[in-house]
Amino acid sequence: MSEPFDIVIFGGAGDLAFRKILPALYRAFREDKLPQGSRIVPCCRNPKDVGSYHQQALAGLQTHLSGAEYDQDVALDFGTCIMPMEVDISAPGTHWTELAALINSEAERVRVYYLAIPPTIFGACCQRLNESGLISPQSRVVVEKPLGYDAASAQAINDEIAQYFDESAIYRIDHYLGKETVQNLMALRFTNVIFEHLWDAKSIDHVQISISETVGLEGRAGFYNEAGALRDMVQNHLLQLLCLVAMESPHKMRANSIRAEKVKVLEALRPMSGGDVAANTVRGQYVAGNQDGKLVAGYLEELEQAGSHTETFVALRAYIDNWRWARVPFYLRTGKRMKQRSAEIVIQYKCVSHRVYGAEAGPLTPNRLIIRLQPDESIQLVMMSKDLNTLDMELQPATLNLNFSESASRVKSDAYKRLILDVVAANHSLFIHRDEVEHAWAWIDPIIEAWQAADQSPHLYRAGTWGPPESDELLAEDGFRWYNSGEHQ
Ligand code: BG6
Repeated sequence: MSEPFDIVIFGGAGDLAFRKILPALYRAFREDKLPQGSRIVPCCRNPKDVGSYHQQALAGLQTHLSGAEYDQDVALDFGTCIMPMEVDISAPGTHWTELAALINSEAERVRVYYLAIPPTIFGACCQRLNESGLISPQSRVVVEKPLGYDAASAQAINDEIAQYFDESAIYRIDHYLGKETVQNLMALRFTNVIFEHLWDAKSIDHVQISISETVGLEGRAGFYNEAGALRDMVQNHLLQLLCLVAMESPHKMRANSIRAEKVKVLEALRPMSGGDVAANTVRGQYVAGNQDGKLVAGYLEELEQAGSHTETFVALRAYIDNWRWARVPFYLRTGKRMKQRSAEIVIQYKCVSHRVYGAEAGPLTPNRLIIRLQPDESIQLVMMSKDLNTLDMELQPATLNLNFSESASRVKSDAYKRLILDVVAANHSLFIHRDEVEHAWAWIDPIIEAWQAADQSPHLYRAGTWGPPESDELLAEDGFRWYNSGEHQ
């Protein structure tokens, strides 16, 4: 185990702290990865929250951990590391002096400032940290998406933080990068010779990257209605996955090398504007429907506001204009209140160049590699084989299945736990550099501008479905269809 560290959570009484950060730290504690003496300091604006913090934290752990993970005794021990404080980010004052006295009492320690607060106050928070003498050479700052609303606001936020922290001390979280199968995607690509030669426009027909959710607004109506699915999911998670699929091999698995390769992909994304946007994107919004046998409300009812045109679903076709990916469509899709919760990357290979079996052997299904990130984690390869149930020469698709969820000795994966421990270890490889954020926005902004100029309502889809029919049509135009999770054959 390494040296003890301190983690100060601004927004300590917020949803992110209770839902993700504390459960992640509890898991680390339970696995002996939180060195003894480490301190967790949630900062709350309201003194009432400080008083009842431990109770709230324990209740949060019970809600957000599985029954097998939650252990009352461990949780009580873990609670002794939590030292909530009242701190008002908007004003300097004695609270900041008290925080500084506490944190500076261990001057040499790694200290992590986790900004689980709206980006509009990142700058103020960093300024207070600086004024209060809280920024030491061992300080790191963690920020969450959404980093901005467009390229200009993202740049402004990055500039504000950069006044106080060097880029090497800034950790921008995209929790998708902490998912185990996302890291496995890189292992698959860069440690297996069999894929490298089959990873380009010569062999691959198209790529699908799809994140479907069954949840709706989850109490985030204000934020979501301003953002929409393109900003909330595509600008970050989906483009990050696209980068990992499409990038060249980095020189080493080091942050700078990985970032340089991802930025090249983002730069090569074919820009879309005006008519291209209309031809290559589909916006959707859910209406009431049946999900898992239950009637759920439509987006506007959930929002309690008529007339919103915010998209809760996006499907789009993108191209990466470089030698490796010339003319290979990348279809990205994400939506709320869809039929199933899943995140999958499907690499669809081309058909064999010449058919040697007659039509009586049956149709040929092209190879397909399916990388499944959730709800379970697996890598599947669909390939043709002889049907062994008959002596006739009949072909059928068969699936090689690497199912990681079944491994009994597997450690419980938790993207946040992994990422927080990486911050402590100063490992930047799964974090986003400001160049990536800004390039991603530069590609997204013209799409939003074109949508705004067209001023059209989104296509409606029923909750509990795979999105509006127009999304299927987008692929049908090219002769393809979405491979929906669970419907792979
Ligand atoms: C977040 C989005 O970044 O990712 C949410 O803001 C979304 O809207 C969530 O629900 C999905 O994450 P996961 O890990 O549940 O797929």
